[in-house]
Amino acid sequence: MQTMTDRHDLATPTLLEASQMSQLEPNAPILRIIGKAPLSGHVPISGAKNSILALMAGTLLSSEGCRIRNVPYLADVQRMGDILETLGVKISRNGEVLDLDTSNLTTNSAPYELVSKMRASFFALGSLLARLGSARMPLPGGCAIGARPVELHVRGLQALGADVQIEHGIVIAHAKSRNGRLQGARIYLDCPSVGATETLMMAATLTEGETIIENAAQEPEVVDLANLCRAMGAKIRGAGTNTIFIDGVDKLHFADFTAIPDRIEAGTFMVAAAITRSTLSMSPVVPWHLTAAISKLQDIGVTVRQDSDNMITVIGGDRYRAVDIETLPYPGFPTDMQAQFMALLTVCEGNGVVTETVFENRLQHVAELNRMGANIRLKNNVAVVTGVPQLSGAPVMATDLRASAALVIAGLAADGETTVMGLHHLDRGYDRIEEKLRNVGAKLYRTTANVTVS
Ligand code: EPZ
Repeated sequence: MQTMTDRHDLATPTLLEASQMSQLEPNAPILRIIGKAPLSGHVPISGAKNSILALMAGTLLSSEGCRIRNVPYLADVQRMGDILETLGVKISRNGEVLDLDTSNLTTNSAPYELVSKMRASFFALGSLLARLGSARMPLPGGCAIGARPVELHVRGLQALGADVQIEHGIVIAHAKSRNGRLQGARIYLDCPSVGATETLMMAATLTEGETIIENAAQEPEVVDLANLCRAMGAKIRGAGTNTIFIDGVDKLHFADFTAIPDRIEAGTFMVAAAITRSTLSMSPVVPWHLTAAISKLQDIGVTVRQDSDNMITVIGGDRYRAVDIETLPYPGFPTDMQAQFMALLTVCEGNGVVTETVFENRLQHVAELNRMGANIRLKNNVAVVTGVPQLSGAPVMATDLRASAALVIAGLAADGETTVMGLHHLDRGYDRIEEKLRNVGAKLYRTTANVTVS
């Protein structure tokens, strides 16, 4: 636990360069990290953000409501709740339990100002359309990591018998059949899109007939959503494989459902243990959700021990060797752990080649890591990371959710102080990450930047 003395170390003003201050809102929060503190202990893992957001969209399929457990405290969960409430859903939260009353949807139209802030809300298009027979959903637009198109969602809904038009940035969809129901179809996805698989699987649960989704995403979060829908009475087979079969039913019912733990949060803490050469245990986890990350850590020279069916321990080592990483759809190496692993590669001996194949602009953390003394050369979607003996603390700006996590990880290992700006990215996807890190010995805390321009 952090002592007062430690806190005093952090009391000196933060020297930020003028160029960085100009990018900050007045009194914007920053995270101050004094690096090289050894970590030890146990980290609790929260529910999976990328499951919860889809599960919340799935609750629209039934008029009987839903209870979701293991819900983390995240900005994105709050935003998804706001969007559902504008649709007429009544939500109450008690700790990590969310109760959603979906009995009285008051509109089929989600507001642009909310959807544009949290693209996963677009996944509600499928469930809203299946429940009401029509839906209006703003196009989510791109984000820092890519254009994030949704044509696979749109084409799939058209295959299910929906008329889908895009007018003035709004997707307007309605079931063409007289009874307002969608019709089962065979759908092939050009790429195994997680969101498109989830949107179409939800829509298909209430169609007439059978739907087959080929080249479907196999991520654990897709399986979790399928399990929620099945708990509500849907007939789904094959989730977790590349072909999902859905037999439409007339109605779905209430379900009390517990979300899976967050494999990306767990992976982030695994890398934090490795880069600080510490020993950290974490639970709950589903070890086989982490196979790719565990394999890469072991190749690097990190020890990973499975203590039970829901707990693992990561034991950092003295010398690490560089490895190559290529991001791929599950069960390949997850793009959501690419930035975090790149931070680790910066202090591995040799050259590691990181290829980002899923998103077109998910390497913005390279420039910030290089500010901390890393040696990374970037060409298009390939980064060559040449290991250095030590990173050095610096003021850095987060550009997206997983880049912010990578910068925190780098700061934990760097010599001296690192200040991470752009914390709104971090807060989207990590539940109390500072508290969890401080509880295992990290020296960091959130403050606002003193306007001491060097
Ligand atoms: C989900 O996003 C996750 N978000 C992302 O996590 C994750 O990185 C991504 O899946 C890949 O695993 C949520 O689940 C809320 P995709 P999603 O559709 O569904 C292209 C994080 O950090 N594509 O699988 O939007 C797309 O451009 C976030 O937690 C199309 O071309 O991802 C991308 O290149 C970031 N057309 C690729 O597919 C479409 O219609 C994979 O995207 C849809 C997608």
